[in-house]
Amino acid sequence: MSGDGVNYEVVLRNHLHLGQDVVGEGREKVVTVAGERGDKVWVQYSRDGENKDALVAGPEFFKAQFYLHKILHELLPDNFPDYLLTGQGGLLVERIPADEDAKRANDIMQLVRQRRLETGSGYCESDEHEWLTQKHNAIYYSDEYQTLARVLEYIGVAEVGDRDRDAYELAVPVNTYIVDGHPVIIETMDPLVKTKSERGTEGRDLLLNIDRLGEVVDEGVVVGKVTEEAARKIRKYAQRYKVNANSAIESWMVARNSLETLTEL
Ligand SMILES: Nc1ncnc2c1ncn2[C@@H]1O[C@H](COP(=O)(O)OP(=O)(O)O)[C@@H](O)[C@H]1O
Ligand SMILES: [Mg+2]
Repeated sequence: MSGDGVNYEVVLRNHLHLGQDVVGEGREKVVTVAGERGDKVWVQYSRDGENKDALVAGPEFFKAQFYLHKILHELLPDNFPDYLLTGQGGLLVERIPADEDAKRANDIMQLVRQRRLETGSGYCESDEHEWLTQKHNAIYYSDEYQTLARVLEYIGVAEVGDRDRDAYELAVPVNTYIVDGHPVIIETMDPLVKTKSERGTEGRDLLLNIDRLGEVVDEGVVVGKVTEEAARKIRKYAQRYKVNANSAIESWMVARNSLETLTEL
């Protein structure tokens, strides 16, 4: 059978039970309910969102993102949801249930967004701010989160001072939910990072430090925190991540160079 005429949007909607119900919305993405039992979510970059790379990216960007999250889930299953597939510029992800705190945090962020639209300033009322800060700190300073943050920083996933990847920013109660006492990071992360050369030219690099990931996995096997089976999967996913992330960087460079040529004309 040829693939001609296949409307992937229809296939995705019908087979994955993609719904219209919005589960959450951030600066970059819109997240909607998916799965027959509503136990999954579909993560899609919104057209007016802040991540311009993702908006022009090809499938290899999303594959790199998919394998990045497969790795994180396999390495730290208590702290990252599973990623099920990617296609059409989106990802199908295990839905992490929002407890009362997560619901309130999402409601507050929704209010902030609404106020920004109406008044131009996305402010928090002081009681909202106090509550959010208290919950945020409770997550961030917990022993499990501190250990998690150290691992993420070592392998390149979190970076101090980066607005989206700072371990503190990731602990905001809309990016990390608590499930059975464990912090679960639900933020879908960019597989690439921005770099700057000495001349100030912007570039892109792999987010994951594959060598360091290898060290963490080997160490995890030795101390019995990572099974041999998980280690095998992670090594396989790491190769796929690398190949796709490198192609995504190449496409990005081609796009940037043609833009520069255009500007010179
Ligand atoms: N796996 C998930 N399970 C449940 N809710 C999710 C999941 N992923 C995202 N969400 C919801 O969608 C919101 C936006 O997702 P996120 O990846 O944080 O996007 P952004 O980068 O735009 O902030 C989250 O704050 C959360 O409310
Ligand atoms: Mg977020």
